[in-house]
Amino acid sequence: MKVTVYALPTLVPPATPGPAVVIDVLRATSVMITALAHGAQAVRPVAEIEEARALAATFPPGTALCGGERRALPIPGFPLGNSPLEYTPEKVAGKTVILTTTNGTRALAALRHVEPLFIGAFLNAGAVARTLAHLGQDAILVCSGTRGRFSLDDASCAGRIVAHLKALVPDLVLDDLAYAALLLSETHRTNLRELISHAGHYQYLLSLGLEPDITYCLQEDVFDLVPSASEGQIRG
Ligand code: MLT
Repeated sequence: MKVTVYALPTLVPPATPGPAVVIDVLRATSVMITALAHGAQAVRPVAEIEEARALAATFPPGTALCGGERRALPIPGFPLGNSPLEYTPEKVAGKTVILTTTNGTRALAALRHVEPLFIGAFLNAGAVARTLAHLGQDAILVCSGTRGRFSLDDASCAGRIVAHLKALVPDLVLDDLAYAALLLSETHRTNLRELISHAGHYQYLLSLGLEPDITYCLQEDVFDLVPSASEGQIRG
């Protein structure tokens, strides 16, 4: 079994087969995992704000909630932003969340033809690795990046998933970036936050006072849930 890591979704060659895992630690995939773990019926990722509004209008009143961000800030008129801390069971249980974000939902759109397509973050890194090990097929881990650029937080998370996977599949083969991501996360095993504090998006979120979100998203293995995306819907 081989694992290949891509620094950005745009680097994944067309027709690459799954299983694939999309990672956007800060914060889109952390939000999706949290929403579904807290009972949301489904997450519908869409690229544009107007698309989110139009999709919400097709649901019976009270059954769908729009969420997301632009420049990490809440979208005017949307009941939810892009803080995973907002996605409480009280707000999302039984609801469909229609989510539009800058990088995470676009990474998902770029990989929409890949099956199976899983959602990963630190919150479920161990569970993702167990799912991939169980499938036993060559897998790709795709970092969402930030505005088309490499992102340290996503690569570190890919490294943690590789580390978990290596423990389960001893003869696992790694491509260059999978190996680099593994080394990155292993050398900072006990000070993950210090490593990720060098990420541009970490600094940006911090400047907006979103430190509680960062602390939340850097927690490992909180959920034993591996959501998967198919036909425009993410389910737990
Ligand atoms: C994204 O998908 O671009 C991110 O989740 C941005 C953010 O932190 O809000």
